[in-house]
Amino acid sequence: MKRLTPSSVLLTLDPGELAPLFEGRPGQSVTFCLNVDGQECYRNYNLVNTEDALPQVAVKQVQEGGVSQHFNSAIHVGDVLNVAPPEGDFYPEDLDDAAHHLVLFAAGSGITPLISIAQHALRVRPDNKVTLFYSNSDARQIMFRERLDRLAASSRFEVFHVLGDGATGEDLSTGRLTGSKVKKLLSQYTQGLPNEYAFISGPMGFTETVVNGIGKTANPLPYSTFSFQRQRHGQGADKIRPTTEVILSVGGLKRTIPNAPQHLTLLEAADRAGIDMPADCRSGICHRCKARITAGRTTSAELDSPTKAVPKGHILCCQQRPSGDRLELEMD
Ligand code: FES
Repeated sequence: MKRLTPSSVLLTLDPGELAPLFEGRPGQSVTFCLNVDGQECYRNYNLVNTEDALPQVAVKQVQEGGVSQHFNSAIHVGDVLNVAPPEGDFYPEDLDDAAHHLVLFAAGSGITPLISIAQHALRVRPDNKVTLFYSNSDARQIMFRERLDRLAASSRFEVFHVLGDGATGEDLSTGRLTGSKVKKLLSQYTQGLPNEYAFISGPMGFTETVVNGIGKTANPLPYSTFSFQRQRHGQGADKIRPTTEVILSVGGLKRTIPNAPQHLTLLEAADRAGIDMPADCRSGICHRCKARITAGRTTSAELDSPTKAVPKGHILCCQQRPSGDRLELEMD
């Protein structure tokens, strides 16, 4: 365990003989099942280790009490934790097929999926380049400072800090990131080439600001966003992928997702549509997202999660993807 900032900690996990199950890909996350104050809690955290090292997560304390404080003050070296294997498809694997300039936008602990992407990109191809724009309220909140300094020793990695308290003294790097600042940063640090791709990670308002700024440029970059477990891919990625109309009945109330992308799990599709679906672990453990199929079919998301058996005719929405033209589901 290592303290990263006054309010965040880095945990290294040792899965022992289960190590092959925990070989995550860039941008993936693991789910912890913890007992906090007598309550069973599930929380999902991004892996931040390099691919040849033991799994690591970084947890920032976001409030008094609760799981993030538990990680920051009640977990000790040698504790045994329940953790499900990595999952997630934030990083499009075909990015590795050619040299790219990855442009990363992170706010606060939103750095966690992006640090693994930066490490991977620099390692997997000697012709990749990474530029990180990292926004924090002040310099003390910068997570992974040492790692970022180490990466910055390479001419292929550049980090640009944006600090809310104005400590840098320059306009573009001071205060909140706005759409017009994003546009200016992109005009200075990118060239509008087809091999440029952006990843955005932080609170919903931050990702919307950056997406808005990208949209103001003459040649908007393709991008993926990561915001509170809600992931999406920009620049028409869904338009070329098949979709399903999903009718969801939760406690008797019907909601429709007209175009649920077939590459997302049903839970991710509901997230994206703004539908609050019952769910805790997002990893096939708690069964809170169990639904009965009343019409249509699904396919398995093949997430390698330790799923318990579900009753016949039922599925777990965090483990299945929609299939066919129409799917109807019922949840309690
Ligand atoms: S959310 Fe826990 S099993 Fe799906």
